[in-house]
Amino acid sequence: MEKVKKRNGFASGIGFILAAAGSAVGLGNLWSFPYKTSANGGAAFVLLYVLSVFVIGSVVMIAEIYLGKRAQANPVTAYKKASKNLGWLGLFAIIIPLFIICYYSVLGGYTVKFTLNSFNNNSEILGSFTGNIPEVILYTAIFLILALVVVMGGVKNGIEKVSKVLMPALFIILVGIAVYCLCLGEGVKEGLNYYLNPDFSALGFEGVLAAMSQAFFSLSLGMGIIVSYGSYAGKEIKVGKSVCMICIFDTLVALLAGLAIFPAIYHYQAIGGSALSDRGILLLFESLPLVFDNLGTAGHIVSFLFFGMVVIAALTSVISLLEVVTQFVIQKFGVRRKKAILCVSAICFAISVPVGISLGYALNAPSGTTPPLQICGQNLLDFFDMVTNVVLMPICALGSCIALGWLIDKPQSKAQLFSPKPAA
Ligand code: PFF
Repeated sequence: MEKVKKRNGFASGIGFILAAAGSAVGLGNLWSFPYKTSANGGAAFVLLYVLSVFVIGSVVMIAEIYLGKRAQANPVTAYKKASKNLGWLGLFAIIIPLFIICYYSVLGGYTVKFTLNSFNNNSEILGSFTGNIPEVILYTAIFLILALVVVMGGVKNGIEKVSKVLMPALFIILVGIAVYCLCLGEGVKEGLNYYLNPDFSALGFEGVLAAMSQAFFSLSLGMGIIVSYGSYAGKEIKVGKSVCMICIFDTLVALLAGLAIFPAIYHYQAIGGSALSDRGILLLFESLPLVFDNLGTAGHIVSFLFFGMVVIAALTSVISLLEVVTQFVIQKFGVRRKKAILCVSAICFAISVPVGISLGYALNAPSGTTPPLQICGQNLLDFFDMVTNVVLMPICALGSCIALGWLIDKPQSKAQLFSPKPAA
């Protein structure tokens, strides 16, 4: 059985911070944050989002790190150690990652395809690519194999090493793209106005809920990830400082993504392009490719960098989810890491195939017709996304707070708070 001793955990504080930030920075930042902001009152939404991150999200993150550090084990064991009655909550923290990996890998596969196709006009391939089932399956597999290889390397030699390189790279690329988009000229001002002008009347109750759930999703809370990473964090890791840095980094990336995307879209419209959708999957895989293709050679380079950056963000997020399930399998069944990750990836791949097919049908269905392979009127990706985001994750995050606040023995000091619970 793999004991989670320090040698198997993060080697340094910065490694822990970058790995957790790698998990936090994902499609949530580069894609859903910008469009949710524009749909919910611009700066008013941003303000509420930032408040939710720092006032609520940071506290839940501390609770989750604490649960993991105290138990030095996977989320199921960690919740059980908090209270005998909370084992079921730990199971949620295993099921949620499984659900998310299955649809995230399909989107991850799309981003790999769009990166590699950047010099061949991405704006023309959405329909043909998503409807080509063998190709979608191939790219989903490529994405999952990339993630699998990292997790196979372990926490210190795989996840930590990769995060230390990819996170700074992602940030540099994003700053470069944002500067480029802000210098496009025509339309930039309108784009910034649309993205950031506060309109409190557009921020209804739904906007408030959207800001809060976006903060939770973006910080990777309620998915078992932070509990799992917390269990690998050594004594020397300063929890308060780490949480602060993760929250700042995550928010900065989200804000920068909007600064790149909206000026680019408005520039395209200002120079005579068609009105573009800034919502859902179409923003990433239809609207932005149109903008990039229209910018000539520079646009193709920006497209390559942009989608490459999205691959990095998606990859560092999905490895954190794979690690949660892998850690559970290793500790529960006493198998080796290699075997555990191969089994977990195979199961996820098997489920992601129907998800990819269902999304392909949905994107290519003629309007007015109902595509096959749907649950409750939604394609499998939207259904999995809804079940995890709306139902399972809030329960799991709330459970972490209840466990920390009421169910575990009260620590007497800060030092005791973050030191592992001695074996019973
Ligand atoms: N914080 C991630 C994001 O914003 O995309 C949430 C996440 C999604 C983490 C998918 C891990 C993952 F595989």
